[in-house]
Amino acid sequence: MTEERRIIDIIDTEMARLFEQRMTAVKVIAMAKKASGAPVEDLKREKEMIAARSESIADPALRRYYGDFLRDVISVSKDYQTDLIYGEKMPCSDIIIENGCISRAGELLGLDGGRVLVVTDTGVPTQYAETVAASIEGKGADVKVCTVTQGEANKSIQSYAQILDALVEGGFTRTDAVVAVGGGVVGDMAGFAAATFMRGIRFFNIPTTLLSQVDSSIGGKTAIDFSGVKNIVGSFHFPSKVLIDPQTLSTLPQRQLHNGLAEAIKMGATGDAELFEIIEKSTDLNNDLPQIIRHCLNYKKSVVDADPRESGLRRVLNFGHTVGHAIEACSGGKYLHGEAVSLGMLYFARGDARNRIARVLEKYDLPVSHNIPAEKLSEFISHDKKASGDTITVVEVNEIGSFAFETISIKELPL
Ligand SMILES: NC(=O)c1ccc[n+]([C@@H]2O[C@H](COP(=O)([O-])OP(=O)(O)OC[C@H]3O[C@@H](n4cnc5c(N)ncnc54)[C@H](O)[C@@H]3O)[C@@H](O)[C@H]2O)c1
Repeated sequence: MTEERRIIDIIDTEMARLFEQRMTAVKVIAMAKKASGAPVEDLKREKEMIAARSESIADPALRRYYGDFLRDVISVSKDYQTDLIYGEKMPCSDIIIENGCISRAGELLGLDGGRVLVVTDTGVPTQYAETVAASIEGKGADVKVCTVTQGEANKSIQSYAQILDALVEGGFTRTDAVVAVGGGVVGDMAGFAAATFMRGIRFFNIPTTLLSQVDSSIGGKTAIDFSGVKNIVGSFHFPSKVLIDPQTLSTLPQRQLHNGLAEAIKMGATGDAELFEIIEKSTDLNNDLPQIIRHCLNYKKSVVDADPRESGLRRVLNFGHTVGHAIEACSGGKYLHGEAVSLGMLYFARGDARNRIARVLEKYDLPVSHNIPAEKLSEFISHDKKASGDTITVVEVNEIGSFAFETISIKELPL
């Protein structure tokens, strides 16, 4: 045994030397990719490379292990390339928006091997997860489906544990993947499970509510609620790809559709006057949805790319959220998130911009007034995580398509 240990030591030392050589080559490729704008990920090449190299392993029993070893090596190389190309700035996800695209999930996500956990919830029509699972299975991956109970109340440590259980029981490894099929609750929770399982495995998002298609599916924020506080436990973990199929919105109740539209109105109001006008003038919302989704994602992507970890500009996405969160929390479940944000926006919009926002909210049956006492809201905001000391930074809109940050004392809030 001593002799075998000595041999392993020699091999490991040699592998360290080869690793450095390999990473030097990887660095050169990263620089070329940076110059040409080519993506870090090249799934076709990876697959071919693993198959070809595994062939050179004589012992068939060892081939699978060598494949796993190469996948780990590739994953480390990609991390290195990502750091070299983007530095602290993380890449935003690849996004595909196409009617009917969920039936091509296997091909579009490039998931043609390994294990895949599809996470959905009991409120999402089952055909969506089934279609996605069948398409990925058709590409040769081993697919399991995990269904958690629907609703914000179940964005909990218990549901998170249910997803982790499925990953452990299914024998998932670092090279496997999680695919979320559902609204923001499923996406945030499945993303958090992917971020934390084995210190992070690949995550793909297939959002099926308007809110998740225009907002939560990109940006890398993942979370669960804990101890009564929304999104208090989470991490940044960017999806490798996002598939948006506007046709899935055909089964969404109208209230949920308008709830998502509130976030689109928020983005139009703060940074995309054209988007705001499309929503304002729309006479056939279903027909205009793909265009609205595209505008929102372009806008959110530009903001997230500039500030992936929300240390500055990204806070613009919080327009309407300071008071909106308070209204959502104090209303005892009366308002959905987007409805509460609708009310929150009106506190920080001025002049004609305010009138236009109010009109467009009314057009889509979103609330423009409420009867929660100001003291209750103020007390909630004082305890809210975004408040730092006695002051708070809010987003104001004086003209549609532009915004300003304002730091004010909580006592000055126009409640
Ligand atoms: N990560 C982020 O950046 C971010 C941003 C905004 C909001 N969020 C989070 O998103 C969550 C809200 O997301 P949501 O509004 O999508 O709610 P949700 O996920 O609870 O979905 C709403 C309801 O619609 C059902 N549903 C989903 N797709 C459907 C479909 N196609 N047809 C019929 N029913 C369908 C769901 O089962 C659920 O009952 C919150 O937890 C919020 O914190 C996250």
